[in-house]
Amino acid sequence: MSGTRQFHNIALIGFMGTGKSSVGHIVADQLRFSFLDTDELIESRRGKSISAIFSEEGEPAFREYERDLVLELASRNKTVISTGGGLGANTANVASLKEYSFVVCLWASPEKIWDRVRSQTHRPLLREADPLGKIRQLLAAREPFYKEADVLLNTEVRCLKEVAQQVL
Ligand code: S3P
Repeated sequence: MSGTRQFHNIALIGFMGTGKSSVGHIVADQLRFSFLDTDELIESRRGKSISAIFSEEGEPAFREYERDLVLELASRNKTVISTGGGLGANTANVASLKEYSFVVCLWASPEKIWDRVRSQTHRPLLREADPLGKIRQLLAAREPFYKEADVLLNTEVRCLKEVAQQVL
C-alpha cells in the first residue's frame, strides 16, 4: 500500500456546538461538494430523532449506527461529512474517516460551547443538572481522540466563515 493519502472527502469532527454543520455547509458550497450530516442520516434512516434513539434504544445502539455509517461512507467522493460530537471521540472511527477523508477537528472551550448550546434542547447528553460540568468532563475525555484529526481548528476567535476559509 502506498504511504500517500488521497483526500476524496473532508470530515469534520469535534464537540457539540463547535459549528461542524454550519462550517461544513459553507465548505461544501465553496468546493461544490455534497454535504452529509451523520446525525441527520441516522435520524432519517431510523425514522426518529437522536433523543428518541437514546431513550428507546440506548446510547450504545446509537454508537453502533455511527460506527456502521463511518464504514459505509468509505465509498463517498467529494463530500463534506459533518459528524455527531461523539463519533470522532473514538480511535477506530477517526482512523476509518482518515482512510477516505481529510479530517478536521473544530475546537472550543467548555464555556464557549455551553454559551452556544444552552438555548438548544435536542441534545440528550446535555440534559443534566450540571450541563457545563458534563461538557467539561466529556471534552476532557474526548480530547485525545479529537486530536487524532489531521488538523485542529480553534473556533473561538473566528466567525464561521473564517473557520470555513481555514478548512478550505
Ligand atoms: C453527541 C452529539 C450530537 C449527537 C448526539 C450525541 C455527542 O451531535 O450526535 O446528541 O455525543 O457529543 P452534535 O455534535 O451535532 O450536536
